[in-house]
Amino acid sequence: SWTAVLAVVLAYAIGSLSFAVLVSRLMGLADPRTYGSGNPGATNVLRSGSKAAAALTLLLDAAKGWLPVWLVARWGAAWGLGDGVVAAVGLAAFAGHLFPVFFRFRGGKGVATAAGVLLALQPWLGVLVVGTWIAVALTTRYSSLAAIVAAVAAPLLYGLLDGTLWDARGPQGFTVAAMAVLLLWRHAGNIQRLLAGQESRIGQRNGAAS
Ligand code: G3P
Repeated sequence: SWTAVLAVVLAYAIGSLSFAVLVSRLMGLADPRTYGSGNPGATNVLRSGSKAAAALTLLLDAAKGWLPVWLVARWGAAWGLGDGVVAAVGLAAFAGHLFPVFFRFRGGKGVATAAGVLLALQPWLGVLVVGTWIAVALTTRYSSLAAIVAAVAAPLLYGLLDGTLWDARGPQGFTVAAMAVLLLWRHAGNIQRLLAGQESRIGQRNGAAS
């Protein structure tokens, strides 16, 4: 239906708001695409030295994934929008972050946005996956490694918990798996740097060459 298409297009547009770029611009900081890893994401904004800008980027990039899913899950039924559309808007917001229409389709890696989508889609799964990210980040100080481990864990945990803690839902499983695959693909450069022992740790100002 047209409402479903509209919801997906709006979610993609919201996801396309690259908050790393927007927050940095508003706070008078350098464009995160010009330093460190060059990635428009909270981890790289932290390399500017501004914890506030990084925290705000993380919060807003997660919120833009959370909001469309929460809105459609909460109010969608009145518009004839079911579970399939809930899952679709989550994937659309995530895709917007990776391929933003407002930034010549050059976006980020999707870690914060995927977390927001998961927390709205399946709160317990979201908590477990975010917990995985935090555990790996605290122990290794590698943001990218934490994201890679969390991305692998997400579909596995979904498969384990699906049908036991909640009802099996096909479209949601697709969104969880698709986000994981895209997220790993976006971390190809990080994986190479990790294997080469050249990845920068959280808060380290000198990121990998852009
Ligand atoms: O937020 C993405 C993170 O996993 C890696 O970012 O800048 O170190 O490539 P970065």
